[in-house]
Amino acid sequence: MKVLLFGGAGYIGTHVALAFLDRGDTIGIYDNLSSGLKSNINKKAKFFEGDILDAKHVGEVLSEGWDAVIHLAAFKAAGESMLKPEKYSENNITGSLNLITECVKHNVKNFILSSSAAVYGEPSYLPVDEEHPKDPTNYYGYTKLCIEENLKWYSQLKGLNYVSLRYFNAAGYDTEGRMLGLESNPANLIPIVMEVASGIRPNLLVFGNDYNTPDGTGVRDYVHVTDLANGHVLAADYLMANNTSLIVNLGSESGLSVQQILDTAREITGKEIPAQYVARRPGDPAKLVASSEKAHKELGWTAKHSSLESIIDSTWKVYLANAPKTKAY
Ligand code: WQD
Repeated sequence: MKVLLFGGAGYIGTHVALAFLDRGDTIGIYDNLSSGLKSNINKKAKFFEGDILDAKHVGEVLSEGWDAVIHLAAFKAAGESMLKPEKYSENNITGSLNLITECVKHNVKNFILSSSAAVYGEPSYLPVDEEHPKDPTNYYGYTKLCIEENLKWYSQLKGLNYVSLRYFNAAGYDTEGRMLGLESNPANLIPIVMEVASGIRPNLLVFGNDYNTPDGTGVRDYVHVTDLANGHVLAADYLMANNTSLIVNLGSESGLSVQQILDTAREITGKEIPAQYVARRPGDPAKLVASSEKAHKELGWTAKHSSLESIIDSTWKVYLANAPKTKAY
């Protein structure tokens, strides 16, 4: 299968590329390297440096002929999206619509979207299934929902089949240690904990320990990036075998608290990892856990690598490998 990954040089994209290459597929990576790392791009992949806002260049690359495209080229910091919505509407909406319209123009029939649990907003029941109300609480989540809605129309009007994969909290690194680049200036919990463990950051601020959860800290559904990557392979196979579209959650279906992450990271790294308990972060729900029943049923997908130990251990190994190059705080 020939698959083109937009945003394939990013944290998720490089792991998705690995999953396809591991089984012998042909991969193209189109990325503007605004946050993706060239050092993580597999040598076996064909690389196209470009921006999804450059519709002409996107069309030229698509005209080479691909069985499917995977769209991972989005800005994903929920907090930033509330401060700079114009940055997110331009890239995540206009850029994505370029990809959709150019796929139709160049007769690419299969489109996989990296979507997010952020489309749901505050959960009104748990675990969250795909029928849960979509009421995003941040602009980033809205951009993902907007693209899903457009895909629904384009599938009806132009026969573009799609699978939208709603990731819960992506975490971890390739367990064979093949990904060594780190995302700079992370906004998510686990990379921040690792920066504290590595001495890059002085301490962890725990955003609230007064939630109605077992230890008072926020609970999330952490899913290993290798499991997510395998979900993309299964989604591509699904599209090649079926002339239809699908939306599924990709989550481990188990909830872990900030405190559990912190305690396990201290154990595995052997570092103190100083933490300060501060006020809640506005917009954070107490708990968010997926139902991935539909992904199991329709794609045969299961989360095999998403244990807390595997997530923390595989991440810590990457921070250790980067230690000499990483400047201390
Ligand atoms: C996890 C938990 C925080 C940082 C976000 C986006 C979502 C998706 C995944 C892209 C929460 C707590 C965090 C810190 C903390 N992104 N925390 N101190 O908010 O669940 O989801 O990333 O698809 O769209 O919203 O992830 O890692 O920011 O937070 O206490 O310094 O860790 O309160 O309970 P989140 P997160």
